[in-house]
Amino acid sequence: MERIIITDVSPRDGLQNQAMQVSTRAKLRLIQLLNEAGVQSIEATSFVSPKAVPQMADAAELLRQVNDVLPGLAASVLVPNLKGLERAREAGAKEIAVVLSATETMNLKNINMSLAQAVAASEDTLREACRHGLRTRAYVAVAFECPFEGRPPLDRVLDLSDRMRQAGADQIVIADTIGAASPAGVKERMTALTDAVPVEQLAIHLHDTRGMAVANAWAALEAGVRRFDASAGGIGGCPFAPGAAGNLASEDLVLMAEHSGFATGIDLDRLMAAVDFAEAELQRPLGGRSSAWLRRQREKRQLNR
Ligand code: COA
Ligand code: ZN
Repeated sequence: MERIIITDVSPRDGLQNQAMQVSTRAKLRLIQLLNEAGVQSIEATSFVSPKAVPQMADAAELLRQVNDVLPGLAASVLVPNLKGLERAREAGAKEIAVVLSATETMNLKNINMSLAQAVAASEDTLREACRHGLRTRAYVAVAFECPFEGRPPLDRVLDLSDRMRQAGADQIVIADTIGAASPAGVKERMTALTDAVPVEQLAIHLHDTRGMAVANAWAALEAGVRRFDASAGGIGGCPFAPGAAGNLASEDLVLMAEHSGFATGIDLDRLMAAVDFAEAELQRPLGGRSSAWLRRQREKRQLNR
């Protein structure tokens, strides 16, 4: 069976936008539960300015604990600049992700840099990370639509992706940051990208704002993409991108992929245990489109036992 690789980004993309402060202990527990479900790649936190994102102020402490408790896990952390990389390395990071947006305005809003400055900062950070032997990912955010500038030209997305790859990014993560892409648009852009970047290095990061994330994931699969970001319970959203709602829920992606003949290595009952935990912690109902059904199936199985 062909395999897809899922990076669960709920501890970072999922929590960064939450109004209530989540404890380091609860973040660690969420990561453990995801790992117990079979998730082998997790974006654990971000080393950004605590003034910009107070929820991520405990990044160093959390990453140290993750490395202690789950030494085999491929934990990734988001770093916007060299300062973030330095902090991440001190805390023992083995994999980092830089974040570059495909438009001028989104870079300014998100990381207070022009597009040119953001490209340079991302390139510097990637090169430095490679020099230290870290694994690297590069987000190309708002690659389908920007809340400020509309659809960025495809040529620019291709060019930025190529530059990130040349600067050493192992993976290029094409992000629909506000969940505005359509299946046709995903198929078109991801197919074009597979000409510019080897498909093994391509990933897609989807949001479900308009209910199209699963359809978009399928369109990416058809374009040959096998790496996906998703978030347990669908929690997520960028605080600096107006209109961004939750991510593609990991459980929706796993269910869709496995029903379509792809292996994920993830156990859905255990994944739902992670969703249940996040729900209790955030004190509000969570879950993707399939969660109610998945929970009913689990109950039935428990009754039959
Ligand atoms: N981690 C922690 N602190 C950082 C930092 C980092 N990665 N980068 C810069 N800083 C600190 C500086 O040391 C400086 O501190 P001081 O005020 O105590 O001297 C302060 O932040 C301002 O530094 P400056 O370089 O002028 O940054 P800025 O104010 O232009 O902000 C970013 C730039 C990138 C640090 C900030 O916009 C940011 O963290 N953005 C992240 C956004 C995000 O997480 N978005 C969601 C994920 S895509
Ligand atoms: Zn996102």
